[in-house]
Formats: sequence, C-alpha cells, structure tokens
Amino acid sequence: MMPVHELTSENVGDYLSAGGLIPSGSTPIVEELGGGISNVVLRVETPNECFVLKQSLPKLRVADDWPFDRRRIFRESDCMSYLGEMLPAGTVPRVVFRDDPTYAFAMTCAPPGGASWKQLLMAGEVNLSVAARAGELLAAIHNLAVHDARVSERFEDSTVFVEGRLDPYHWTTARRNPDVAEIIMAETDRMLGTRLVLVHGDFSPKNLVVYMSDQECAGLLLLDFEVAHFGDPAFDVGFCLTHFLLKAIRFPQRRTRYVNAAGIFWRRYFDSLQPSLDQGIALTAARELGCILLARIDGKSKIEYIIEEPMKDTARRLSRGILLDPSLTVEAALDLTDRPLAVSSRA
Ligand SMILES: Nc1ncnc2c1ncn2[C@@H]1O[C@H](COP(=O)(O)OP(=O)(O)O)[C@@H](O)[C@H]1O
Ligand SMILES: [Mg+2]
Repeated sequence: MMPVHELTSENVGDYLSAGGLIPSGSTPIVEELGGGISNVVLRVETPNECFVLKQSLPKLRVADDWPFDRRRIFRESDCMSYLGEMLPAGTVPRVVFRDDPTYAFAMTCAPPGGASWKQLLMAGEVNLSVAARAGELLAAIHNLAVHDARVSERFEDSTVFVEGRLDPYHWTTARRNPDVAEIIMAETDRMLGTRLVLVHGDFSPKNLVVYMSDQECAGLLLLDFEVAHFGDPAFDVGFCLTHFLLKAIRFPQRRTRYVNAAGIFWRRYFDSLQPSLDQGIALTAARELGCILLARIDGKSKIEYIIEEPMKDTARRLSRGILLDPSLTVEAALDLTDRPLAVSSRA
C-alpha cells in the first residue's frame, strides 16, 4: 500500500498543485485552523478561491489511547453533501473535492463576518436568539428522517459513533465511576437500540459559525460531521446542553445566563421536532446530558477549560444529581444547574 500523504501547512501547496487542484506555480496562503484533536484542518486561499482542507489523523492528540478509524473522513464528506442537498443553502459548507486515498476532502470556506459560537459564549456573549436558532437547526436535521427513508441506510453503520463517542466517552467514564457505571451502560444500550434520526454527533458551539445582524442571529453555519450516524436524537441534545452546563460551572457569575440559553435551545428544539420523533426525549436527553457531562471530566475527551479538581468535582456532583434521578427531565436538570454550584470538597 502507498504511504498516506500526511498534510501540513508546509506541504499542502505542493500537494494541491501536483493534483491539479490549484494552478501550478501558485503559492496559496495557508492557515492552520482548529485546535481539534483528531484532524488536520487547513484554510487555503488563492487569488481565485478559498477552501478548507480536512484530513483525519491516524492517531488522536489525547493523553489516552483512542482508536478511531481514519475512514471517518468519508462519513464526514458524505454527510456534508447530504445535508447540503437537504437543508437551506448556506447551512453547511459545500464539498469541493474528495481525496479518499489521502483521507482528505475540501470544503468551501465559511463566508466572512461569522464568529465561532464557542468563542462568543466563552467571552460571556450569550445571545438567546442564537440558542433558539441552534435548537431549530438541530430539529431540522433530525426531522429529515421523517420524510427521507434513504437516510437510515446511508448512515446506518454506527462505527464512528462507537469509536468516536461511546467508547471514549461513556464506556471509559463508566469504568472510572463504578457507582454510576450501571446507569451509563444502560443508557448506551438504549442508544444503540434507538435508530430514529440522522445524529450529527458533534453538535457543539465550537462547530457552529454565527452570523449576527442587529443583535439577532441571522444565520448559522454548521461544521464537523465525522461522527454523524443514524441513531438516537437524545445524543445530540444532551451533547449540546453539556456545553452550557460546563460553562455555567466554569463561570459561576454567568450561570443563569448559560442556563437560560440552554433552556431556549431545548424549548425551540422540542417545539420544532416532529412529534413522531419524541419518544420520551425530555427524559432520555437529560440522562444523556448526565453521561456526557461526566465524560467531559473523566472520559478521553476532557474539556480543556475545567482543570482544577474542585471544579471537576462540581461537574461530577451535578452529573450524579442528574443520573441518579430517572424521572428527571431536561427542564429539571437545568433547574438543578441553576443553583449555586458551590465549589467544595468531594461530596
Ligand atoms: N469550512 C470552514 N470555514 C471556516 N472555518 C472552518 C471551516 N471548517 C473548519 N473551520 C474551523 O476549523 C475548526 C476545526 O474544524 P472542524 O471541522 O471542526 O475539525 P475537528 O473535527 O478537528 O474539530 C472549526 O472549529 C472552525 O473554527
Ligand atoms: Mg470541530
């Protein structure tokens, strides 16, 4: 087998001109994007065009060993193409070309004027219209399954979900937290048996580019589809909500603002979801929220902005509060979060 051409900002110009993907002799401006743990992401600009090249890494940049098949990049470009056909124009980037032997593909650049939702939230800019729009977008993706039977077949293989989420998040966290292991394992079994919608798998503020106009959200661009699969809508909801809870823990002075944004996201999502897809999602999403919150502390993909042990314990306590009450809804989990999350010694 030919060795894979591993892309860097230094060699990407030669790679592109050798493949006829940019005019030979041109010297593109290359910028490394991301800070992601599992891909090389390079923004390439020539006088005529701008695209972002993404290549899956053979080995993830985390402390733990985390096997994740490089072919996940094929799932990503396939899902981006599919959503490009099905969602309103401008909601996802367009696939420009694929280079499967290199485990790479190129997509159009985000239009100028956008901002990372994660960066806005981290800076304390918590705009509720963005949260509502994100809830609506997630429901629109999940709702596709109601009208399009092809989606179940196309994204049926859930290897990316097992390798990219269940193993490094849930199963690892269960091993490290024996007192709630049974609850987490039951939750993963439930998810594996639930095949209802196209799940994005990484629906987080980091993967949403926000466009504002007059203090209102005018549009969102969604990125990063390597974990997309046909499965359980509660996963995306719990995954996204976790990011608000983590920020509420990290910045206690802004706690209520983050919880309110989470509440708006959830309500808009729920109100936009096709009723046939609601199979107790207020409960299952809360359970998933508890699992993922703990996983961002004790799993293989640790949240980078919660470092100190007392703050980690606050997150652990909150996730246990959620996991140990089987009748807890998303709304109740958010109420639980909006109490002083005292940083204290391990409970
Ligand atoms: N098409 C794009 N246009 C502009 N920025 C992008 C584009 N794709 C990715 N990025 C930036 O690069 C970051 C990493 O890309 P992403 O696809 O999310 O990779 P990863 O899977 O490693 O998280 C994104 O969070 C975003 O800031
Ligand atoms: Mg990303």
